[in-house]
Amino acid sequence: MTTTPSAPSGELKRPAELFRPMDVSGLVDADNGYVDRAIFTDRQLYQQELRRVFAPSWLFLAHEDQFKKPGDFFTTYMGEDPVIVSLNKKREIKAFLNSCRHRGARVCRADYGQTKNFTCSYHGWSFDLDGELVSAPNQATYPESFSMADWGLVQVPHIETFHGLIFGTWNPDPVPLREALGEMAWYMDAMLDHDDEGTEVIGGVHKWVLEGNWKLAAEQFGTDWYHVNMSHASALMVMSPTGKGPKDEIVHRTGRQFHNEAGHGAGFPVHPKNRFDARTVHQHVDYDALRERLGDARVEGPLTNGHATVFPNFSYLPVNGSIRIWHPKGPDQMEVWAWTIVDRSWPAEVKEAQRLYNLRTFGPSGIFEQDDGENWSEIQAISHGFVTNSVPLNYQMGLGRDSEDGVYPGTTSELYSDSAGRAFYAAWQRQMNTPAWHENH
Ligand code: FES
Ligand SMILES: [Fe+2]
Repeated sequence: MTTTPSAPSGELKRPAELFRPMDVSGLVDADNGYVDRAIFTDRQLYQQELRRVFAPSWLFLAHEDQFKKPGDFFTTYMGEDPVIVSLNKKREIKAFLNSCRHRGARVCRADYGQTKNFTCSYHGWSFDLDGELVSAPNQATYPESFSMADWGLVQVPHIETFHGLIFGTWNPDPVPLREALGEMAWYMDAMLDHDDEGTEVIGGVHKWVLEGNWKLAAEQFGTDWYHVNMSHASALMVMSPTGKGPKDEIVHRTGRQFHNEAGHGAGFPVHPKNRFDARTVHQHVDYDALRERLGDARVEGPLTNGHATVFPNFSYLPVNGSIRIWHPKGPDQMEVWAWTIVDRSWPAEVKEAQRLYNLRTFGPSGIFEQDDGENWSEIQAISHGFVTNSVPLNYQMGLGRDSEDGVYPGTTSELYSDSAGRAFYAAWQRQMNTPAWHENH
């Protein structure tokens, strides 16, 4: 099985000039809270992100629930690389580059489905569920040195799961996923580990395109509760019981924001009476059992509310079970792919209530989602002006106020803070300045 891009018997060697890395030390000052707008607009930096941020990182691929029978597959992207995720006959999850080794066409054009083989629609090369080339029309016309074993699909070398979430990385020698998450795993458990049955996905995958750099969204979900009261004022008004607007404690919520060195971040209001927003879900959930399993700190914090990003581009919202990935599509565009996850143990009507609640709030036309997309597009639309692009942005909220609070693991700050944003861009900067495995010639 081919695990890394290579020319099996050829002598191809890419000249180093094809990729000249840029030193990004001057573009982020995480200690003092400055970010240069070029990181959202520059095409060369973007290409470097694909090589040094996306290729070596653990990237979210899909939920295990999407693969029930051998041959079930789902197509997605790792950075801009198209991949097929599938279950083989041994019931192992595998992922392959969705690009034929002959002339490079996608070998699977469906979003998801069930198959025995992936057959390229250009000339008919066909690959099995382990990515092996099993048939090539007119094979007799190839030279004797041609071996089908050399031309299998390029395999994603490492796949690991965390409570049903499947991640993959192109890095041939990665730190294990659990270690890469660090303390972030404790916060993720608050959404993924309510009971032994785990979670499932419901209602398919929603996909939409936004005119904005992928980092604007990833950063916001990691660090930004600050925008909620202003950007989502109308949504909060509609949802308030009186219709007159949010109560004072919503506007001035206290809570914590977590980050770690890997660039992961999560923020959440803390209150003893925190609850799920969807009434049917709230009425069903046994908060005492959850306190028993997850502890008071999580039930009063990240269980029911807040925002989170797993560096670089996987984010989630515990309140409605929205999990999403911000696929990069050039410096100026991202494609959002969003799932709803629910507890497998919930009755059908509770699952449905959560699905509808997520759709209303954070579906493609959700009352919160539209506010966020509008902000990101607005920022991107003006960012290419030369002078505009030259003026640094402010990430100074909460500077110098990080602490270990003894309740929430890792480094935390107040809810209203840019600390996870600074950590996100520090991690981005570090990866952008670190040669990846594929650069060691
Ligand atoms: S490109 Fe796939 S068979 Fe030719
Ligand atoms: Fe928002």
